[in-house]
Amino acid sequence: MSTPETFQIPLETAEIYESKFVPALFADWAPHVVDMGDVAVGHSVLDVACGTGIVARAAAERVGSEGRVVGVDLNQAMLTVAERVCPGVELRQADVTALPFESATFDVVLCQMALMFFPDRQAAIREMGRVVKPQGTVVIMVPSRLDAQPAYRLLVELAAEHAGPEAVAMLSAYWACGDLDELLATVRAAGLEVLSARTRMGTARFGSIDEFVAVEVESTPVRERLTDDEYDTLRREANDFLEKFIAADGTAEIPIEGHLVAARRR
Ligand SMILES: C[S@@+](CC[C@H](N)C(=O)[O-])C[C@H]1O[C@@H](n2cnc3c(N)ncnc32)[C@H](O)[C@@H]1O
Repeated sequence: MSTPETFQIPLETAEIYESKFVPALFADWAPHVVDMGDVAVGHSVLDVACGTGIVARAAAERVGSEGRVVGVDLNQAMLTVAERVCPGVELRQADVTALPFESATFDVVLCQMALMFFPDRQAAIREMGRVVKPQGTVVIMVPSRLDAQPAYRLLVELAAEHAGPEAVAMLSAYWACGDLDELLATVRAAGLEVLSARTRMGTARFGSIDEFVAVEVESTPVRERLTDDEYDTLRREANDFLEKFIAADGTAEIPIEGHLVAARRR
């Protein structure tokens, strides 16, 4: 949950994203995003910054054979994996601020766990508003702020103790759009009308607290700032502090709060 993915990633990283991160983190949110957009049989749906297409897959199940689902992402490697795992979904490589579609093309435009990585969020939302039909719906899902995340907050505090205060920024990309008032203001400033907003507590599942720490810390420069001894201490402390998030079978159930916003063209 730490690296902004605004650059081209290798295919291997996209495969790991699909096999590890999607089941652990992203699949949990996809049906809620699709529900928020009232995706129904026959709809045409766009999944913006689709990654390997977990939301597109959920949408494809709802729209049936009369509908159309398109996924767009900047990263070719994500799309290469999506081609394999999303039969029936059209895939296009594009930047969110230049979507390769006519205005008013889609009934529903969905964007899960990506807004925080866009350099110009308002322009991105405006572009989503351009391609949605006048009575259609744009749904944006982002994780809430770090201070609303009971387990991630503790992990970031521990990392900062050992790796210095810069560790907070290194581990915080995902929480950057998490202030709901700011998010709603950005949606409105992009020319959309907010229809509804909801905050939900989801669950990310890891094999253990050690795995959770490894996924978060080893994918960032935080790891390089720690000696092996310091990293061992961090892991031990994380197991103590995060004990209440360990399920009976030893797996880690990490809460993730997120916001879902539905909007339409004004
Ligand atoms: C954390 S992933 C989320 C992917 C997917 N929505 C999901 O829920 O699994 C963020 C995605 O945003 C994409 N992305 C980042 N910046 C982008 C941009 N400017 N235009 C299109 N896609 C972008 C990345 O390539 C990556 O696939």
